[in-house]
Amino acid sequence: MTGFSADWLALREPFDRSARAASAAAFDLPALALRLRRGDPVLGVLDLACGTGANLRALAPRLGGVQRWLLVDHDPLLLAALPGALAAWAEAEGFLFRREAEGLGIEGPGWRAEVQPLRIDLVQDLAALPLAQVGLVTASALLDLVSADWLDDLLARACHAGQALLFALTVDGRLDWTPRVTGDDRLARLFAAHQRRDKGFGAALGGAAVDLAADRLRALGCELKLAPSDWVIDGREGAQAQAMLAAMLAGIAAAVRAQDPGAAALATDWEARRLRLLARTRLRVGHRELLATLR
Ligand SMILES: C[S@@+](CC[C@H](N)C(=O)[O-])C[C@H]1O[C@@H](n2cnc3c(N)ncnc32)[C@H](O)[C@@H]1O
Repeated sequence: MTGFSADWLALREPFDRSARAASAAAFDLPALALRLRRGDPVLGVLDLACGTGANLRALAPRLGGVQRWLLVDHDPLLLAALPGALAAWAEAEGFLFRREAEGLGIEGPGWRAEVQPLRIDLVQDLAALPLAQVGLVTASALLDLVSADWLDDLLARACHAGQALLFALTVDGRLDWTPRVTGDDRLARLFAAHQRRDKGFGAALGGAAVDLAADRLRALGCELKLAPSDWVIDGREGAQAQAMLAAMLAGIAAAVRAQDPGAAALATDWEARRLRLLARTRLRVGHRELLATLR
């Protein structure tokens, strides 16, 4: 769960989608797109740490109109899986999909997007981001992985260039289990501490990320909108939810063992007890969305 395999991203995507549907009403994306176009028919969107393109799949139909997406990740395996994931999505949704010499093209009702994947390491080469080419900078499931210094650097660059920023699906530290079992609280504390370990960007912000980003963006003069987008994973709904719960359990137990070897036996026992309860377990994982625009 702490790695970013295409399989893990595919497992979480339906839960991401439901979570984002719940927060969609908070952001008027067609109005935002209109404002960001500033008369240009094409809206440029830069997706940071795109994985296999889930953020585009969530946003492009909601933004509407003509869009040009630049999708950035450092992982060549995820970038290689991206065209296939977009093609499968387009087919399932009845959208047109084209592979073109210079990138990919997708067309749905009321919108179309040119899509160009870019391999950039966001730690080593933030200066290489083509910020000047876009009106919207976005990322999903990234903000809790980054450090305060990295975020400051990104915000300074993006705000200087006048882009709107939309950070989706940032964990906020809440983990609510039903039913509860012995060990939940200790494991949650150790898991939260592990979320703050360096994920390549310096000490990670983890559950503090949205509040810190909001403070920094307000100080930079941005107008903010925040909305909850919690995962709700209910094992009573069947195999998909149970697979997601099992992946969460394995990820939390592994993170706890890495964080505190003294809690390894508890983590293993907790995971085994919770696995026996999968079919009647409901887990809410707190996430938030943040949209920042310059006043
Ligand atoms: C939790 S995944 C989110 C992926 C995608 N945005 C989504 O919502 O499915 C985090 C992503 O960050 C990317 N990532 C991590 N470190 C990175 C770096 N230094 N530069 C670029 N991308 C990075 C990973 O490859 C992965 O795709």
